[in-house]
Amino acid sequence: MKRYPKAHVTAVDYSDLSVAKATEYNRSMIEVGRCTVLQGDVSDLKLPEEKYDLATAFETIYFWPGLEKCFGQVAKILKKDGYFMICNESDGTDAVSLKFEGIISGMKCHTVEAITEALIAADFSEVRSDHHPSKPWITVIAKK
Ligand SMILES: C[S@@+](CC[C@H](N)C(=O)[O-])C[C@H]1O[C@@H](n2cnc3c(N)ncnc32)[C@H](O)[C@@H]1O
Repeated sequence: MKRYPKAHVTAVDYSDLSVAKATEYNRSMIEVGRCTVLQGDVSDLKLPEEKYDLATAFETIYFWPGLEKCFGQVAKILKKDGYFMICNESDGTDAVSLKFEGIISGMKCHTVEAITEALIAADFSEVRSDHHPSKPWITVIAKK
């Protein structure tokens, strides 16, 4: 927000608690009209189409019900040539995250290959990825 002083951020989460926490944390930006926190499900986004320059997903796609469908929803709200960035602390193969996957119902740790495949199926292009040199942290970026 400091680097892009004219930017407006719209945050979406389907959990009451996450919406409340995000609202509290971002209160000053909400008050000056630079941030909006909404409750919503990424599998059925009720946001204006082709409006946003950038969409980000930090530590959340593990829980999305169907990557290709949800990535399609993200594509729908991005402008042409907009970007989508995914950051995960799991690369889909690390033992710690796979242990959580076995415990948390509905959680899925995706590999870069599976994420890339779903992005391409949802009509994204120019997919790039980075992997931390020693930790299972990944970033995947794609263009609409
Ligand atoms: C591990 S938390 C990460 C939260 C935040 N992005 C961060 O980095 O601190 C995962 C979040 O994804 C949200 N989430 C999971 N599935 C979702 C869906 N289908 N639609 C919207 N939010 C979802 C959960 O409610 C939760 O707040």
